[in-house]
Amino acid sequence: MKKIAFITGAASGIGAATARLLNSDDHFVYIADIQREAGQALADELGNAAFINVNVRDEADFERALDQVMSEQGRLDVMVNNAAIVGVLGPIATLPVDQYDFSQEIIQRSVVLGTKHAARLMQAQKSGAIVNIASVAGIRAGYSPHVYAACKAAVVQFTESVAIELAEDNVRCNAICPGAVATPIHTGVRDERWLERIEKIREAAVDEQPMPRMAEPSEIAEAVAWLASDRASYVTGHALVVDGGLSAGRLWRQQPQFFREFHPVRGV
Ligand SMILES: NC(=O)c1ccc[n+]([C@@H]2O[C@H](COP(=O)([O-])OP(=O)(O)OC[C@H]3O[C@@H](n4cnc5c(N)ncnc54)[C@H](O)[C@@H]3O)[C@@H](O)[C@H]2O)c1
Repeated sequence: MKKIAFITGAASGIGAATARLLNSDDHFVYIADIQREAGQALADELGNAAFINVNVRDEADFERALDQVMSEQGRLDVMVNNAAIVGVLGPIATLPVDQYDFSQEIIQRSVVLGTKHAARLMQAQKSGAIVNIASVAGIRAGYSPHVYAACKAAVVQFTESVAIELAEDNVRCNAICPGAVATPIHTGVRDERWLERIEKIREAAVDEQPMPRMAEPSEIAEAVAWLASDRASYVTGHALVVDGGLSAGRLWRQQPQFFREFHPVRGV
């Protein structure tokens, strides 16, 4: 049976790759985003998909969009809370609190809203899978600005907490913690200049990660698709790390002098 999926932030990056993959796996996909042109273009290209204008800061948008899904399809099988931004940057002592509020609304509160409105439908139908996109920055310090890190940590904990509540209604709720993925989010631009800018970022990733490259969005989409599928039917309350080893520990060549001298790895 065809499944119905709703993906926030699906006009670009990981969300778009997930939309493509689920669509190729017999899902009707709702591409929920504020980027109308890119979202509509992807829906047109895929067929068996629709763009739906959703600003994840706005609860009324979720309500309206998911009511539309129910009136058009009568069910919701997969909810992917993926939309986010990097958010406010800089030192804590000068953090502008209005920018904190804005960032938190998009990175974290959006996941709460998306989960809330998916849960009301999925609990009623006694089935469904929610996948929240967190980050390695939510489980290890030092990979992102403070507010992004805190919001992603909250997404992980929220996912686990909600999973416990929803389990008895046969609704699963999991998170994914990607490492560095080659998407426009790192480049500060949305036009084709992102492709040039990401090349420089890819070069930096070679020396800084156990697997010496960034991930492609499709590699994260594979993990989303698995958690969303019946193949993961007994998996809930889990935060799946997909980071090429980034969070596993220090790179061997970055070991402190003490370890290099007394417990050498690879004989350095
Ligand atoms: N790229 C990485 O290295 C990386 C690493 C870890 C986690 N993530 C997470 O993956 C998710 C997807 O990011 P990406 O890298 O694909 O970035 P991206 O910038 O390519 O995609 C983000 C999408 O979210 C949409 N969006 C932003 N604000 C929105 C709003 N208010 N309402 C609706 N849509 C909105 C954008 O229009 C865009 O289409 C995010 O949650 C991000 O934090 C990314």
